[in-house]
Amino acid sequence: MKILEDIDIFVKSRYPLLYLVSFEEERVITALSKLAQASKKELFIWSATQGIYSITRNAAIKDTTNPVNALEQIIEFKDRAFFVLKDFHYYMEDPFQQYLENPLQVRRKLRDTLLALRGSFKTLFILSSVLHIPRELEKDIVIMDFPLPDYKDIKEILERTLANVEKHYNLKFDIDEILKEKMIKACLGMTAGEVENVFAKAIVNDRQFDEKDLGLIISEKKQIIRKAGMLEYFEVHEDFSNVGGLNGLKTWLKKRAGAFSEKARQYGLPEPKGLLLLGVQGCGKSLVSKCIASLWRLPLLRFDVGNIFGKYVGESEENLRKALRVAEALSPTILWLDEIEKAFAGAGGGSSGDSGLSTRIFGSFITWLQEKTAPVFVIATANSIENLPPELLRKGRFDEIFFVDLPTESERAAIFNIHISKRKRDPAAYHIGELVSLSEGFSGAEIEQAIISSMYDAFYENRDIQTSDIAKALQETVPLSQTMREKIDYLRQWAKLRARPSS
Ligand SMILES: Nc1ncnc2c1ncn2[C@@H]1O[C@H](COP(=O)(O)OP(=O)(O)OP(=O)(O)O)[C@@H](O)[C@H]1O
Ligand SMILES: [Mg+2]
Repeated sequence: MKILEDIDIFVKSRYPLLYLVSFEEERVITALSKLAQASKKELFIWSATQGIYSITRNAAIKDTTNPVNALEQIIEFKDRAFFVLKDFHYYMEDPFQQYLENPLQVRRKLRDTLLALRGSFKTLFILSSVLHIPRELEKDIVIMDFPLPDYKDIKEILERTLANVEKHYNLKFDIDEILKEKMIKACLGMTAGEVENVFAKAIVNDRQFDEKDLGLIISEKKQIIRKAGMLEYFEVHEDFSNVGGLNGLKTWLKKRAGAFSEKARQYGLPEPKGLLLLGVQGCGKSLVSKCIASLWRLPLLRFDVGNIFGKYVGESEENLRKALRVAEALSPTILWLDEIEKAFAGAGGGSSGDSGLSTRIFGSFITWLQEKTAPVFVIATANSIENLPPELLRKGRFDEIFFVDLPTESERAAIFNIHISKRKRDPAAYHIGELVSLSEGFSGAEIEQAIISSMYDAFYENRDIQTSDIAKALQETVPLSQTMREKIDYLRQWAKLRARPSS
């Protein structure tokens, strides 16, 4: 595991305290015990209920449920060791302080411990699903996110589960390698516990393990991802033949279709990082985002940033980390943040009440965007820039910022063609030229709406639609570009200098 190698490096450089963020306690402890064994160290776990307990010797140290006593024992301990502190974030979160007898004493003791451990062969780990660090400790702590199980981990779980079931039920599974690979891939994004459960469920159902179970695993995964409340696993049916115009953007994307392949790595290409699509409402930003997934054949995860803001302290941060970890586990994948300006509206230092929180969340997101190593392609859309924090627009965050403007004449012709065909009509039967000139200033969404509303009229009169029906619907519509002219002009001016045109 890559994370274990990283931990090992910090341990060997004698960092006294590593903060491991994970909601899979058991898996992390198992991994740490391997590392402890390899480096000949004793592994101790501390919890408020058990005190200090040695996994290596299967024995507890008396009178150590009190965190201050526990830390004292750790300072006193003479040998090489790892100490894992469970739930220790409670002692560091301000809102909990009032419930603790002597919170400041714990924090002080922790700092003393770090000082005492410096240069020793003892390492302290805080293991928690929540990241919370008091100011005064920021400089002393290394934070590490423990990633979700990868392909190899899941393969191990599958093989272990199969072997168990074969033994207990006296069965013999003969599983096609290709199917096995698909099953393993379908589990990416789940925790180890979830993977075990879904495999067990798949096998126990009918004591078989076959193609049918793949469907079960995928639907289970979708539920798990959705349950987290922020991510939605999208099945995309749209492709670029449904998008009129935007040829510049399409070409950029087509050139990168193979960018996540092994071949591209061999060639020496870096993986694309992400795109920001900025532009006028209803001109196809969301539509294009969905099409990228089908063009690149990657899973699409829609990230509802608005949902990450939780009631409790630290909850929002935890949600963000969880979502990003799922995206990384599913990588290569596309993470889609639609209407990002709404999510991070407060982060620009504006006047909104929660600006502190959204600034922090936004900061964590930007850091991740900048530093991520997993191939997660981020596609963000926005239709205004006023509320976007300027840091987001700085060079290097995204590979490119594209401006999606109102469709030009030829683009409108293409859009009419697409939507008339979609409604089971032959575009050749209509005067597209006339419709194009009547729809100056219309967005793709408004063109689509005009076609639909003319169809209602014609259907009501029990006849087929004609060019004149669509023309009438267009004439009756006041496009947003008229009512919002100033806003759009402002966006255009801004984009002229800083973004690449999509057409
Ligand atoms: N270029 C286009 N080609 C074909 N259809 C389009 C195009 N632009 C918009 N449409 C139609 O309009 C619908 C709405 O567009 P979409 O949701 O992608 O707009 P948007 O740019 O994301 O707008 P918003 O800023 O309001 O989110 C699409 O589902 C599609 O049917
Ligand atoms: Mg949209």
